[in-house]
Amino acid sequence: MPSVQRLLDERVAAAMRAAFPEAADLPAIVVPAQDPRFGDYQANGAMALAKRLKRKPREVAEAVLARLDVSDLAEPPEIAGPGFINIRLRPDWVAGEIGKVNRIEPDQPEDRLGVPRAERPETVVVDYSAPNLAKEMHVGHLRSTIIGDALVRMLEFVSHRVIRQNHVGDWGTQVGMLVAYLDHALDEGSLAPANVIKDMLKDLEDNYRKAKALFDTNEAFANAARDEVVRLQSGDQETVGVWKTWRKLSLYHCQQVYGKLGVGLGDGDIRGESAYNDDLPKVLEDLRAKGLLTESEGAQCVFLNDADRKPLFVAKDGSPLPLIVQKSDEGYLYATTDLAAIRYRVNELHANRILYVVDARQSLHFQMLFACARKAGFAPPDVELVHVAFGTMMGPDGRPFKTREGGTVKLMDLLDEAEKRAYELVSAKSPDLPETEKRDIAHKVGIGAVKYADLAQSRTSDYVFSWEKMLSLDGNTAPYMQYAYARVRSIFRKGGHEAEEHRQDAAPIAVEAPAEIALAKMILRFPEALDRTLEDYRPNVLAAYLYDLAQAFTAFYDACPVIQSEGPTRANRLKLCDLTARVIARGLGLLGIETAERM
Ligand code: ARG
Repeated sequence: MPSVQRLLDERVAAAMRAAFPEAADLPAIVVPAQDPRFGDYQANGAMALAKRLKRKPREVAEAVLARLDVSDLAEPPEIAGPGFINIRLRPDWVAGEIGKVNRIEPDQPEDRLGVPRAERPETVVVDYSAPNLAKEMHVGHLRSTIIGDALVRMLEFVSHRVIRQNHVGDWGTQVGMLVAYLDHALDEGSLAPANVIKDMLKDLEDNYRKAKALFDTNEAFANAARDEVVRLQSGDQETVGVWKTWRKLSLYHCQQVYGKLGVGLGDGDIRGESAYNDDLPKVLEDLRAKGLLTESEGAQCVFLNDADRKPLFVAKDGSPLPLIVQKSDEGYLYATTDLAAIRYRVNELHANRILYVVDARQSLHFQMLFACARKAGFAPPDVELVHVAFGTMMGPDGRPFKTREGGTVKLMDLLDEAEKRAYELVSAKSPDLPETEKRDIAHKVGIGAVKYADLAQSRTSDYVFSWEKMLSLDGNTAPYMQYAYARVRSIFRKGGHEAEEHRQDAAPIAVEAPAEIALAKMILRFPEALDRTLEDYRPNVLAAYLYDLAQAFTAFYDACPVIQSEGPTRANRLKLCDLTARVIARGLGLLGIETAERM
């Protein structure tokens, strides 16, 4: 079943082609209507069509309308304003469709709620989380981890083959620095050999800070760190051994954070920078063979130009900006590793699409990387490369989120605090719940609140982190949505379990009262919300839809008695309640947020 929006889009596009075959390439542009008084959907294509044909938009809209047949699903469409076509769905059609949505096929237990599987499933590589292992995971890693996780869930739900890639920073100068620091601290006695692993684990961040301070001030130490990098690169057994232990410890820490977040990234998804080490000279050789390498100040560079041989990227002073792939000291760079990773993902993983869920501040890096990968033929034209960029999480003062002392906020501490605050909320609201249930709800609400506050924002903008806002029970927040779910579920505890027993039933669910009709139409929009979310990888579109759904449910529940009604009305209303709960749970689930049966 395609979404209603797509169905209407096809119908209007067909009418446009029939009326004006000379402009058959123009789109119908069917969108949800802004104001329900004028209908449910609106087709905006007549305006561009009129412009192309140099005719009056209203006239063009009328000609399209004459060819448009939607009588099976909608009231007669109307023209409004300069030439919009307004379409209102017929309640009897809605009743039939929503009945079909209700049915769960017995042979496929997954509740699809009207969401179709992709016609052409693709292999989609999603590069997300990717912390640099030298430091403990901090709030800066939150957005990539949870936006990436939500996208993975949605892409899998529509049946793409998703391959997660955790491109962790586990190589380079920082690593040499830490290996050298370990030696230094053991010699100096500030780390005890017996406790070294425990000490390292206890505070990765602290060790990193101390190592960095030494690196910046102590020439001998800086040299030792550089030597370690060289030894690492040449496969020196002792150094590699230390590196391996340190890497394991850091990854163990990441796994704890993923576990708490409920993010499905495992050891098998890790392919860090170190994995591409042996490929780097080959990447360089390849670029050289293709004649793309230029030496500039001792470094190996790729200059990227457009079709007119004008530089694609320029520095502030106007001089061409190259992608540097090897430094003058022969060391490789972040970009070199990323070129190797693209080759691996295209050739070995057979990606059709590669998504990079990475901070917007790296956007120049990705533009240059993609341009270079295209030019070198590492990424053929039919492989899509997308930088799914996101803004910065700000503190209440409008500056990047920091601890009161100005340090980075450890992700684990933040998540612990979220659970603690949610526990207080739950205890105040439902003091009589058993302790274990309170803890379970606090976990779901606390983690859910942190995730939802992030995912409900347009990902490209910066946003202000606020405990009060994210844990509020009013407004577009996780607790509000989770509470909406629990409220619907409570209806079933009061009786009316039969609706759940009717989940294999595809009979029409008659809707009559305006609030019933509005709710049913909203439920039908779930596939469309998911479509629009994935079009541009914007989880906030799904979040906004879920919020609208919860509000439509509230309006319905205020206007239409459920348990107190009788006969078919009661049965149908219970089904609407059941469907609402299922869509909310599924929608939140796709965002990586859990629900509780009561709160
Ligand atoms: N480790 C990098 C950082 O923390 C992010 C890596 C993103 N992925 C990539 N393929 N470059 O900035």
